[in-house]
Amino acid sequence: MNSFGLSLPDYPWEAMAPYLAKASEHPGGAVNLSIGTPVDPTPAVIQDALRAAADSPGYPTVHGTVRLREAIAAWFERRRGVPGLDPKNVMPTVGSKELVAWLPLLLGLKPGDVVVRPKVAYPTYDIGATFAGVTSVATDHLDELDDATRARVRLIWVNSPGNPTGSVRDVESLKAIVAHARELGAVVASDECYAELGWGAWDAQRGGEPCPASWIRAFPAGPTRAFWPCTR
Ligand SMILES: Cc1ncc(COP(=O)(O)O)c(C=O)c1O
Repeated sequence: MNSFGLSLPDYPWEAMAPYLAKASEHPGGAVNLSIGTPVDPTPAVIQDALRAAADSPGYPTVHGTVRLREAIAAWFERRRGVPGLDPKNVMPTVGSKELVAWLPLLLGLKPGDVVVRPKVAYPTYDIGATFAGVTSVATDHLDELDDATRARVRLIWVNSPGNPTGSVRDVESLKAIVAHARELGAVVASDECYAELGWGAWDAQRGGEPCPASWIRAFPAGPTRAFWPCTR
């Protein structure tokens, strides 16, 4: 009989279960830093907005409303220092995990193509490669790849600020990635979902500087496409 379904790995956190059980036996229990699921109450402003929008019959558009896309473009200017983003080029998604997992397929990647992801990374970059049947390669420096592998690179994930290491790339290293991607004809996808979590250091309104991860700021013109999954 044919077997169906992708052979996906177990969710990585399941591997932690025995350690969590053991740690929970200690007096006071365990401090669980594994899954970053939100635990704080949903702010009233969000609850109110959701309630107020509950009576919205009709199918939503895939592209979202113009008002939402304009608000996202305005957020990029206000909070990330990225002016001039065209709301037409904004595609809202339900959470960033969906986009991360589907992007290789949506870009039409084919078996043989390579997706590059950071060496220590959020696991969904690999899941996306598995969905599309392409090869995932872990590296933080494209120079480390041999020529045959480099020639097959079609998508490069960057995650700055990064999960789980917290590393933040500077503008020079971002520029190097974009230059490399252009040479290879690859898409750069910048997962910046932690860009707001600098607690002031990345907040211009509190005297900080937006953290350097938005491709438009790092490298204004040219054909490299960038994605900013940002739902935090
Ligand atoms: C690096 C990274 N990208 C994307 C996501 C997905 O976030 P969400 O689907 O909650 O927007 C996470 C969640 O932990 C993450 O750590």
